[in-house]
Amino acid sequence: MSTETFPDTVASTISPDHFRAVMRHLPTGVAAICAEDPETGGPAGLIVGTFQSLSLDPALVTFSVARTSSSWPKVARARWFSVSLLADGQQPICKALSSKTGDKFQSISWTKSQFGTPHIDGALGWIDCAIREELDGGDHILIVAEVLQMQAAEGEPLVFHGGRLGSFRESAAS
Ligand SMILES: Cc1cc2nc3c(=O)[nH]c(=O)nc-3n(C[C@H](O)[C@H](O)[C@H](O)COP(=O)(O)O)c2cc1C
Repeated sequence: MSTETFPDTVASTISPDHFRAVMRHLPTGVAAICAEDPETGGPAGLIVGTFQSLSLDPALVTFSVARTSSSWPKVARARWFSVSLLADGQQPICKALSSKTGDKFQSISWTKSQFGTPHIDGALGWIDCAIREELDGGDHILIVAEVLQMQAAEGEPLVFHGGRLGSFRESAAS
């Protein structure tokens, strides 16, 4: 057995490029985080690949947002937001909502939920959430949110892998 001891904290020497080069091998789903901006009354949103379930009871979800995001402050001030789980074929929606310029929602069809949040039409699932905590995540903020309501539709997911968008393919062995 090793007698080596480790310090409580270590200064990371991992460069952002190396970090990305390794993490690009992990496929993720594609989720649209949207809210009605209380300042403009219009929809605001962004795409995240970091969305995931956190706790079943209570029902909690999490994702991380870059501190440089201009859309997150608009969503955060609404306190309630929606998560639309994007379906295969919704690549143009992913492109529009991950853009830094232009009217993101110009060509996106969405429906207002009972919580006033925008649900992207044609998505595979919609989750309405309330922000519970915004935690320090280095150059990102780690969001923890409570699930208010959720519903699912049928279809195949949009998948992000190696910097590309694609679809899920079941392997023969499964
Ligand atoms: C597939 C994909 C996954 C992404 N995942 C994240 C993420 O988890 N966190 C994040 O902050 N930005 C993520 N982005 C980038 C944002 O969607 C987006 O580029 C940015 O927030 C848009 O700028 P704005 O917030 O200033 O409007 C992702 C983009 C794509 C295309």
